[in-house]
Amino acid sequence: MSNTKTSNHNRRAIVTGGTRGIGRAIVKELASRSCCGVLFSDVAFVYNSCDECAEELMSEIDYPGTKIFGFKADATSLEQAQATVNEAIEKLGGVDILINNAGITRDNLLLRMTEKDFDDVINANLKSVFNYTKAVIKPMINQKYGRIVNIASVVALIGNPGQSNYVASKAGVIGFTKAMARELASRGITVNAVAPGFIQTDMTQKLTDDQKQKLVQNIPMGRMGTPQDVAKVVAFLCSKDADYITGQVISVDGGMAM
Ligand code: NAI
Repeated sequence: MSNTKTSNHNRRAIVTGGTRGIGRAIVKELASRSCCGVLFSDVAFVYNSCDECAEELMSEIDYPGTKIFGFKADATSLEQAQATVNEAIEKLGGVDILINNAGITRDNLLLRMTEKDFDDVINANLKSVFNYTKAVIKPMINQKYGRIVNIASVVALIGNPGQSNYVASKAGVIGFTKAMARELASRGITVNAVAPGFIQTDMTQKLTDDQKQKLVQNIPMGRMGTPQDVAKVVAFLCSKDADYITGQVISVDGGMAM
């Protein structure tokens, strides 16, 4: 699937979970803004189900000089991640940026949480980060440049009842981020995490009005965040302005964790 426009030497980005919510905003932000000191980024996004959403997203990105590709793949599979990254590199001409955004929730109190709920969340949220990072680092090391941003969560920093699987997966993402930052710093590759608070997407749409009201009461800024609030920080971490930042967790949460 592609919507190709002529391009010079744009930065090339891969975004997992790109068709909805925060991932969709990141795809649009990277494709539209001046990123990494060049005018546009070419973007390959990965999605696991909705073909129409992928087509709609590609049709919305209409910036001259930007290439956009959608790849259908399950981010929990290393084999599919490797195949997708290889194909994306072929289409984009390389990879400079990886945004590990794909994620799910399967909330329940531990007493009621099934083994499957635990495994599914760890696989979608943490194993996927391993899969895509493993698939991109060789080409990034060879070119001595890379920007990796992992989407964690505020709950990895402060905990949350009913989300032990999700919190564990996101705390794992933060640990993985710091280990990779140390492993790759000398190779010209930065690895950072963004920890969003409560953001208006399909993921939080599942909460009841009562739950949302209680959550908003705990946000010093008094509102939920937007996907764009997160996407702008991700784009900053991929830009030249963030060249000396690695191993950090940047909260975008209206002040929830401080
Ligand atoms: P969303 O549910 O709207 O989007 C998640 C995306 O991940 C979807 O496009 C989905 O298809 C994709 N995805 C899930 N499993 C996948 C798999 N196995 N393979 C490929 N793609 C897969 O959620 P939202 O809110 O946009 O979340 C994006 C990221 O931000 C997630 O990692 C989430 O945990 C994180 N986050 C979200 C917060 C929120 O309040 N919405 C707060 C903190 C973190």
